[in-house]
Amino acid sequence: MDAVVTSEQVREVLGSVVDPERGQSVVDLGIVRSVDVADDGRVAVVLAVGAPGSPIRAQYEGAIRDRVGALHGVSSVTVGFDLPSAEEKEALGKRGQKGGLPEGALAGVKNVICVASGKGGVGKSTLTANLAAALAAEGKRAAALDADVWGYSIPRMLGVHGRPTVNADRKINPLEAAAGVKVMSIEFFLEAQDQAIVWRGPMLHKAIKQFLQDVEWGEVDFLVLDLPPGTGDVSMTLAQLIPSARMVIVTTPQPAAQKVAHRASELARRFDLEIAGVIENMSGFTTPSGERFTIFGEGGGQLLADELDVPLLAKIPLQESLRVGADEGRPLVLDDPHAPASQSIRQAARGLIAMAPIPAFEVPPAAPASSGRRSALPTAGAQKPPAESPDAAPPPEQGPKVTGTPLSLPLSR
Ligand SMILES: Nc1ncnc2c1ncn2[C@@H]1O[C@H](COP(=O)(O)OP(=O)(O)OP(=O)(O)O)[C@@H](O)[C@H]1O
Ligand SMILES: [Mg+2]
Repeated sequence: MDAVVTSEQVREVLGSVVDPERGQSVVDLGIVRSVDVADDGRVAVVLAVGAPGSPIRAQYEGAIRDRVGALHGVSSVTVGFDLPSAEEKEALGKRGQKGGLPEGALAGVKNVICVASGKGGVGKSTLTANLAAALAAEGKRAAALDADVWGYSIPRMLGVHGRPTVNADRKINPLEAAAGVKVMSIEFFLEAQDQAIVWRGPMLHKAIKQFLQDVEWGEVDFLVLDLPPGTGDVSMTLAQLIPSARMVIVTTPQPAAQKVAHRASELARRFDLEIAGVIENMSGFTTPSGERFTIFGEGGGQLLADELDVPLLAKIPLQESLRVGADEGRPLVLDDPHAPASQSIRQAARGLIAMAPIPAFEVPPAAPASSGRRSALPTAGAQKPPAESPDAAPPPEQGPKVTGTPLSLPLSR
């Protein structure tokens, strides 16, 4: 009788299955969850990688079946997949490093949620502002980061403007909005509100990175990021910097919008960002007399959620007061918690809370709130302004005196 293959032999072969983007084997990347060999030569391999349906899974499956199947004594090969744990994603992000955050950055941030969509104007910013406020109203420590550096709108929607201070560790203190929501936006570093900014790709990456590593986020349960429309540079940057971030895809109810939103999800899959769920926005309008009009169609959110195999977190109705509140810096979820739109947004927030927090971002209970664990971080002041940036952000108005600039962002005046 043929000798049965050993799991060591299988692992050796797995060492030749290489991730095409990172150029490292699945063994070196640490994504082999298990290798089981049965007495009759059946081999079962489980990898922790990608998301259901992601192309990378199919590629690995094919390669592993071929190579392990060719080993002497193997009667069959099954390849299973698990979602990578937060630790595995972090480790993967570091091993396949393209520009991650320094160790300890975001140490006190438990969950990062990126609010994305395939097309503009579907309500990402409105929902980011209101979701952050709703999470705070649910008793969570919440923060909002305006990752839409061209079309920044979070300060307006949360009603917070001003110039951040810098702390003794030379990190930038976020501003605080209603309900204690911490806020950071490019707007805080501009000379005037509504000032136009000219960006180039690498600058943008650097700016976002600084917002993540040089801002004193402190202890935060949910950091909600407002992404720009489309599936461009910012999403890619975020996927590289925070592999454990999760996406919430916003869509309007009509099927056309759903298709575009699907593009965003494709991107999320390509970069291994987990999709936490879908929010359908502008989902019908109900008149004061109770008559409901489905102005933007119906059902697209559920279709997209089904297609992605993720929950539909909420359907947010069209409501004028949601728009007015966003324009006036008073998030409706705080201003009128009983409004139908507020209740739907609270429901989405509760859905996010119900999903387990990401353990990689858990702070050990014994760790003091401000401690040496951040000392390894490069300070904002230590970062040289980019050569292309003759104008750096002006120094803060209060707080400890610092040399250098709190944020070396390229600004045009
Ligand atoms: N459910 C809603 N009911 C009423 N108005 C809404 C609703 N959702 C969003 N709006 C309004 O629609 C407009 C566009 O929303 P918002 O700016 O949040 O979209 P966005 O996806 O962030 O846009 P962009 O892609 O340009 O960043 C805003 O005036 C906002 O207040
Ligand atoms: Mg927006």
